[in-house]
Amino acid sequence: MKVGDHSYRSIWPAVNGRDVEIIDQTKLPHCFEIVTLRNMEDAAKAIRDMLVRGAPLIGATAAYGFYLGLHEGASDGDMARIGKTLTGCRPTAVNLRWAVERMLTKLSPIAEDQRLAAAYLEAAAVCEEDVATNEALGNHGAALIRDIWERKDKKEPVNILTHCNAGWLATVDWGTALAPVYKAFYEGIPVHVWVDETRPRNQGAALTAWELAAQNIPHHLIVDNSGGHLMQHGRVDLCIVGTDRTTASGDVCNKIGTYLKALAAKDNDVPFYVSLPGSTIDWTIDDGLKQIPIEERDSDEVLRVHGITESGEPTGVYIAPRETPALNPAFDVTPASLVTGLITERGVCSASKEGLLELYPEQCK
Ligand code: MRU
Repeated sequence: MKVGDHSYRSIWPAVNGRDVEIIDQTKLPHCFEIVTLRNMEDAAKAIRDMLVRGAPLIGATAAYGFYLGLHEGASDGDMARIGKTLTGCRPTAVNLRWAVERMLTKLSPIAEDQRLAAAYLEAAAVCEEDVATNEALGNHGAALIRDIWERKDKKEPVNILTHCNAGWLATVDWGTALAPVYKAFYEGIPVHVWVDETRPRNQGAALTAWELAAQNIPHHLIVDNSGGHLMQHGRVDLCIVGTDRTTASGDVCNKIGTYLKALAAKDNDVPFYVSLPGSTIDWTIDDGLKQIPIEERDSDEVLRVHGITESGEPTGVYIAPRETPALNPAFDVTPASLVTGLITERGVCSASKEGLLELYPEQCK
C-alpha cells in the first residue's frame, strides 16, 4: 500500500540480502520509522513488543525470524530452539505456530548447510502467499459490499464498522477486514468506515485511521462504546473484523471488544462478517471459549495512554490512579452463532464446520 508516494509492505528483505526490515507500528501514526531485524531475538522482540502485530504479520515475522535464527546454527536442535522461542512470543494468534511449523516441515528434510538459503526463500514465499491470499479474500468481501450498495439503490455510501486494525499493517499487504473495503473503494463503490478506537492499545485510532486516511477512504473514528448506538440508528450496514484464531467450527477469537460488537450486530440485524486467511484457522480445536489461550497483557496498557503533545513530543499519561489494579485480556471469543459469514481466500462460507470444510475439503479427516 502507498505511504506518500512510496509503496510499502509491512515486512520485507533488506537490500543487503541478509537482514529484514519492518515498520515500527508502536510509533504510528505520528512517526513512520523502519527498523532492521538482524537476528532471531530482534524478530522475537518485535513480535513480543508489538512493533509488528496482527495475526498474518506475526506469522510472516516468525518465518523471517526463523530464517534469521539459522545464521547462528542450523542443526535440528537449533531449529527446535528457534521454533520454541518464536512460538512463545504471543499465545493467541495461531499464525505464529502455523509459520513455525511450516518452516520446520520445509527445512527438516534439507541438508544442514542448505537450510539457511531455503529458509530465506520459504519466508519470502510465506509473504507472497499472504499478499495473494488477502487480495483474493478482498475480492470476495468486496462482492458483499457491492451487493449492499446495490440494495441501497446506490444512494448512500455503504457504512462498514471495523474493530482494531486488520488492514495492511496487520498482514504483509492488503489486510483481512480492510481488504474488501480497499477493493470495493477502488472499484468505485462509495464506502465509509466506522473505526473503533480499540482500547487499550488503540490500534483502530493509531493504525486503521492512519491507513484509511492514506488511501483517502472516508471514515470516522469512534470510541469503542459507540458501535451499538450507531447500529440501533441504522448507521451501520455491515461489520467486518479480522481474527487471530478461528476454530474448525467457526468460533472467532479477535481483539477484545469484538464479541460485544457481534452481540450488538445480532440484536440489530446487522450482518457481522469475519475476514481471514486459511492460515488463521486452527483445525485442531472446536471450542473457542474453552480452547483458545487468551493473552493477558500488562496492566500498564490499561492505566496509561500514549500519544504526542501539542509540540509533537511522544508522551504517556496515566488515566487512573497509578496503583489501580487493572486486568488486560487482549482478545475475546465470538461464538460462531453470532457470525454471519467467514470471508476467506476461497470464498465466503457460514461460520460452521460444514461451511469451512466445503471450502477446505483437504481438512476432512
Ligand atoms: O494484538 P494485535 O494488534 O496483534 O491484534 C490484532 C487483532 O486482533 C486484529 O483485530 C486482527 O483482526 C487480527 S489480525 C488481521
